[in-house]
Order: sequence, then structure tokens, then C-alpha cells
Amino acid sequence: MTTADGLTFMKRLKRETHAQHVDLVRLPFITSLIDGSLPLAAYVNQLRAFATVFGALEDVVAAGNGSSLRASLGLEGSRFSRLLQDIGCFGMEMIPEIPQVRRTAVAMASRIRLLSLERPGALPGYIYVLQGTILGNRVHLPDVKRNYGLTGTQGASFYAGYGHGADEYWEGFTALLNGAVEGGADAGDIIAAAREAFEFLHDIHSALYPLPTAEEMNFSATGINPEAGNHAVPDDRMEIRAALMAADACRVAYPYFDVRYGERGKRFAQSDAAWLASLVEMPESEVVAQVAWLGGVLSSRGMPRITMEYQLTALYEALVAAHPDRQPEYERLLGAREWLRGERVRRIPEELFDEVVAAFVTASGGELDGALQGMGRIIVSAVCDEAGGIFGAVATVRQWATDGVRFSAGWITAVRETIAHAEKTLAF
Ligand code: HEM
Repeated sequence: MTTADGLTFMKRLKRETHAQHVDLVRLPFITSLIDGSLPLAAYVNQLRAFATVFGALEDVVAAGNGSSLRASLGLEGSRFSRLLQDIGCFGMEMIPEIPQVRRTAVAMASRIRLLSLERPGALPGYIYVLQGTILGNRVHLPDVKRNYGLTGTQGASFYAGYGHGADEYWEGFTALLNGAVEGGADAGDIIAAAREAFEFLHDIHSALYPLPTAEEMNFSATGINPEAGNHAVPDDRMEIRAALMAADACRVAYPYFDVRYGERGKRFAQSDAAWLASLVEMPESEVVAQVAWLGGVLSSRGMPRITMEYQLTALYEALVAAHPDRQPEYERLLGAREWLRGERVRRIPEELFDEVVAAFVTASGGELDGALQGMGRIIVSAVCDEAGGIFGAVATVRQWATDGVRFSAGWITAVRETIAHAEKTLAF
């Protein structure tokens, strides 16, 4: 069926936004991508902006009750996850953020959230524009790979889009949208939303390139982890690198993080470590107060405070290696670690702590032959944290570590007995 002017709705939508599409593809960002001069910083900031926007879009679509909206976002998996994966590939490159891009992406994400509440019928306009990038990205995937020396889809999975499935997806999307308008959806609302989305993307891409001066760019938590809150991180790239290294060291020491929390856990570990590194500007008492707060939050979500003790040590060492002259300030982190340790050994003295852990290591087949090394310390630390007033510290670790789908009966018994053993050992 066609609309009053003899076009299907999708053809009309394309016609009505054609000029904006043309303007967009003529921006220096795109021409430089093609001629190979686009700096990596512009590319990575583009991925960050899209992560902010797709994160909001996928959230509101998942929360809404329109199954056709869900279908229209594609069945090939989340583009938000791909963006996060790609951003993760450049994590160690220390690429600062472009504040203007960040602000516009946040405004676009807020607009999507608002529309989902006030005019959900307009959302397909945003989906059209954002998913339309699959078609343009397909053209530019080779440019991205060539410019940044990427192999396979590593660092370029957002651009790889749905690969050979793109045309099929787009046909399905076209049919869905035409059908929705035939079924009474408000065509005017959808077109207005698509225009708006193009405007946002025009502003984002104009701000991406040419790059602002180095002084105008900065580091932020969301630059490290798009899902993190807008909290402080150091200005100094050596300190950020040190934080990322400390986060990685913690994940190696406690494989539990990767096994339980996967990629998302990795990103939070990094943004949290960067936040911890930013604390050193404060007096030690304030550092302790902040660490106590974050330690409580993380422990109640399954990351007992002993892991933060480890992270603070690793962070201190990496920071001192980066800037030996700042050692006295960095020592404030050790002060906070000592506070955490004090809280723990007050409940179970170190020697007894080690004994309970050692019994678990034996009973758990060497913590599954090292695959979950450190698990005993996590369990016993959770018991100390709970005794220290962190509600839910034990329950969240127990729930995961006694899951019969994941673990053998022998392991589960060892976990339960270790919790009971530690609880009996508590000093008070
Ligand atoms: C953020 C940037 C971009 C956005 C938001 C965007 C959006 C869209 C949309 C919504 C469509 C669907 C048009 C339809 O209704 O069929 C589309 C198609 C297309 N885009 Fe883009 N696009 C972007 C960048 C690019 C770039 C850089 C190129 C390459 C120069 C490009 C090339 C194409 C092509 C070849 C098609 C499909 C062919 C067509 O039917 O006209 N796009 N794009």
C-alpha cells in the first residue's frame, strides 16, 4: 500500500530525509575516513557516541512492550555490545574524549528516553536513522580496517554490522515500518523523529572532525566505560594507563571477575580503578571514606573487599612506576588498603583467614586447578564484609558459587562448608 502521494512510507521517509543524508556523508569526518587521514581519536570517539545512543535505544526498546519495535532493531544481536567490544580494543591507546561529542550524544540519548515515554510511536524514526548506518558502514568497513590496521572484525564489529544479512534485515525493516504506518502509526511523528536524529548525528560528526586541540579534549569515566557514571578520573594519561593495568592485574589474580561478570565486569573494573586513581588528590581520610563507600557497593554486588585490597596495591605500584616523584600522594591508596585490611582481620585474624582459605583450596580441587584461583579468599572475605555490616555480601557470592548448573556437587559442598566454617571463626 502507498501513501497519499503514491509512495510507500519508507520511500517517503527516505525522500524526506535525503538532503540530510547527503549533508552528513559530505562532512570532513567521512571524506577523511575515505582518504585515510581520519585520526584514530575521531574514530574511537564516534564509537563512544554511538555506544551512548544505541545503549539508550536498546534499553527503551527492551523495556517497552512493542514486539515489532524489538524485531525492527534486528535479531542479529545488540549493536551496543558490538560498540563496547570495539571500544575495548582501543582501551590501552589512551584516547581522550571530545566533550562536545559527548554532550551531543548524551542529549540524543536523553531525547530517545524522553520520546519513549511521551511519544513512543515516533521511535521508529530514530531506529530508521540509527539502523540505516548499517548500510553506510558496510561501504566504509574496508576504510576503517585499512586506516587503523584492523584484522577480521576486531575493533570494527560495529562497522561490520550484519554483514551479508544487511539487505535481508533492511527488507524486513522496510516491511515492518510500511506495515506499521498502514496499521495506523503516525507517519508525521516518525518522519519528524528521523529528521531530529539526523540533526543530532550531523552535530556529532561535525564535532568529531576536525579534532579540537589537545587541551580541549579530556578523559572521563564514560570514555573508559560508556556505562559508567560521569565520575572523576585522572587527567594524566600515564595515570589512566596505570589504572587500566591495575584493573587487568586484579582480573588475572581473581579469574572470578571474568567468569562471573565477563566483558562488562572488565570495563567497570577499569573505570573504577581510574576513579580510585583520581582520589589521590584528596587527604587520606577522604580517600579512605571514598574507598569504604565503593568497597561496600561492590561487595554487596558480589565483589568482596579483599579484591579491592588487591587492586589498591596493584594501582599503587603501577602509579609509582609511572611517576616515582608522586609516591607520597599515592601512598594514600595504601592507607585506604590498610583500612580495608583492618576491617577484615578484625573479623577473622589473618592466620585463621588463611587456614579457612587453605581448607577450601584443598576441598575445591585447588580452586578448580587454578581456573578460579582466589575463590577461597573471596568467600571468606564476603563473610568478613557481611559481619562488617555489608548486607548481602555473602548471599550474592553464595548464590553464584553454589549454582548447580555451573558447579559440581563437590564444589558446592566445599563452598557451603567454607561459609559455615568462616562464620564460626568470626571474632564477633
Ligand atoms: C552516521 C552516518 C549515517 C547515517 C545516520 C546514515 C543513515 C542512512 C539511512 C537511514 C539509510 C537508509 C536509506 C533508505 O531509506 O533506504 C542509509 C542508506 C545508505 N547509506 Fe547512509 N548513513 C550514514 C552514513 C553513510 C555514509 C558515510 C555512506 C557512504 C558514503 C552512506 C551510504 C549509504 C548507502 C549506500 C545507503 C543505501 C543506498 C540507498 O538506498 O540509498 N551512509 N543511510
